[in-house]
Amino acid sequence: MRQNQFMKRISAIILILTGLLLLCGCATFDPESLMASVEKTQELQNTQKELITVGFSQLGSESVWREANSASVKNALTQENGFDLEFRNARQKQENQIKDIRSFISMGVDYIAFSPVTEAGWETVLGEARAAGIPVILADRKISTNDDSLYTCWVGSDARKEGENAGSWLEGCLKKQGREFKDIKIVVLQGTIGSSAQLGRTMGFDSVAEKHSNWHILEQQSADFTTAKAKEVMKTFIEKYPEIDVIVSQNDDMTFGVIEALDEAGLTRDKNTIVISFDAVKKGLEYVQQGIINVEIECNPNEGAYIADIIKKLERGEKVEKNYMVDEMVFTAENVAEYIGERSY
Ligand code: AHR
Repeated sequence: MRQNQFMKRISAIILILTGLLLLCGCATFDPESLMASVEKTQELQNTQKELITVGFSQLGSESVWREANSASVKNALTQENGFDLEFRNARQKQENQIKDIRSFISMGVDYIAFSPVTEAGWETVLGEARAAGIPVILADRKISTNDDSLYTCWVGSDARKEGENAGSWLEGCLKKQGREFKDIKIVVLQGTIGSSAQLGRTMGFDSVAEKHSNWHILEQQSADFTTAKAKEVMKTFIEKYPEIDVIVSQNDDMTFGVIEALDEAGLTRDKNTIVISFDAVKKGLEYVQQGIINVEIECNPNEGAYIADIIKKLERGEKVEKNYMVDEMVFTAENVAEYIGERSY
């Protein structure tokens, strides 16, 4: 968009210069080369016009995962690939995302994509996008609405499945350790309250925990997906609960804060404390190799290529699915060596 304006300005300047040169009857005036540069400018302008304009509102930069997700969007929606991307960082505030979406509407972008910080509260602004005829693609997290026509489609992770995977893995681990009938005391560090990652992972894990009367969730507290908050939360858990068997931390950045708190309390290498983490960023996988984290439930941030493909399909007038789920794995000491080398984030 900005480039279109820039090119328009350049054309205008060249046309003014042409006029001036003609008026002055300048001795070195070369009409052919001047016409060639005007044509070149118009050609460039046409190329710019063909770019598909996309406004993307990223919810923030709270985690390593989020940085990887932003990079994936920027790497896929490039000019070489036919896109003109307007990328905004909403710094974890829904009000900023709403402002971003409104400004995309007034800019008249071809598509809006965004990663909603929380699930609720999008009806009004998405109604405005629909009224403006701009298709909306949700990335990573979902929104809660009864009106599916507010968005074209969603690309992301199945957060509930991730939570279930964590629970099922714990069942197997306790069995292997011969602790399946022992009392198991669990603390949970949750992500941003009301986000689909927090809601899904909590529901998924709880659905498995409910089947085990010997699993006791002592407390669940949000640390907003950040290391600093998680360290504080974990310190309070350590003070309050003399025995913790399992720590469930709903993303890696929080797990890094948990580990710092455990280190400072001299508890890191306590073999009886099981650490379950989500995301599977490189540092998390390294911790799995070192036996500091027991399991990594992957959350795949590579959504950019899906978004680019969806938009290209829509441009060709093809039908798209309502939901696109990215592939995800579970990493433990048994399989981590095979995958850690290829992890770029
Ligand atoms: O919505 C995905 C979650 O958000 C990731 O687990 C987390 O790291 C991010 O901040």
